[in-house]
Amino acid sequence: MRRPFVVGNWKMNGSRERAQALVVGVCSGAFGLPEVDIGLCPPFVYVGDARAAIGDASVLLGGQNCAGVERGAFTGEVSADMLADVGCAFVLVGHSERRTLYGESDDEVARKTELALAAGLVPVVCVGETLVEREAEQTEAVVGRQIDAVMARLDDDGLARIVVAYEPVWAIGTGRTATQAQANAVHAFLRERVAARQPNVAAGLRILYGGSVKAENAALLFSEPDVDGGLVGGASLDAEQFVGICRAAG
Ligand code: PGA
Repeated sequence: MRRPFVVGNWKMNGSRERAQALVVGVCSGAFGLPEVDIGLCPPFVYVGDARAAIGDASVLLGGQNCAGVERGAFTGEVSADMLADVGCAFVLVGHSERRTLYGESDDEVARKTELALAAGLVPVVCVGETLVEREAEQTEAVVGRQIDAVMARLDDDGLARIVVAYEPVWAIGTGRTATQAQANAVHAFLRERVAARQPNVAAGLRILYGGSVKAENAALLFSEPDVDGGLVGGASLDAEQFVGICRAAG
């Protein structure tokens, strides 16, 4: 049985005060949901505050991104080690906004995955196709290429520690959610791709769905056999809504 994982990605939203209130709201909701792993990705500058606000609650903290290099003269970057140092347990790598707006290549995403693992973090590796790619029936080719690039850099132990998030780019922030069948089909494809390399790892691999997940559609999406939780953007900025989504995963 794979343990459900629901991650809130605040992106570049909020304020110090709002971050604090959100963390407190999510922590009180998480109290009644011991069967779900719940994670939050605040903007970097609020991670320390979030860590303090979480206290003993079982909410995990994550970075929205990390550098593709270990350390050094890379102004503005934050390393995986630094995230671990301030109490993060996981980090998103290869979010579609990083790939499209900041030109991150499959190989750079794979390097970040390696560095996250080396830092002791769980990398949540994001993959997904654009609308043009889906309409050209390229979905499997695209997500296959993205996951292959990551697998190529990891040994089986590393592979066993990652989480994958399937986020169709056309569903992110658009209000247009993939149908449960569309989501599950890609999740099953990804699991099979990993199974071709390591069946045991594939069986335990958690694959989250992301793209306009809301409290209203979460239960249906999470009821699919290969959907193990969600990566939630907009709806994670409302504690009640986000906790509702977490509840749907339980
Ligand atoms: P959304 O974002 O839930 O607002 O669509 C998802 C994401 O980008 O992770």
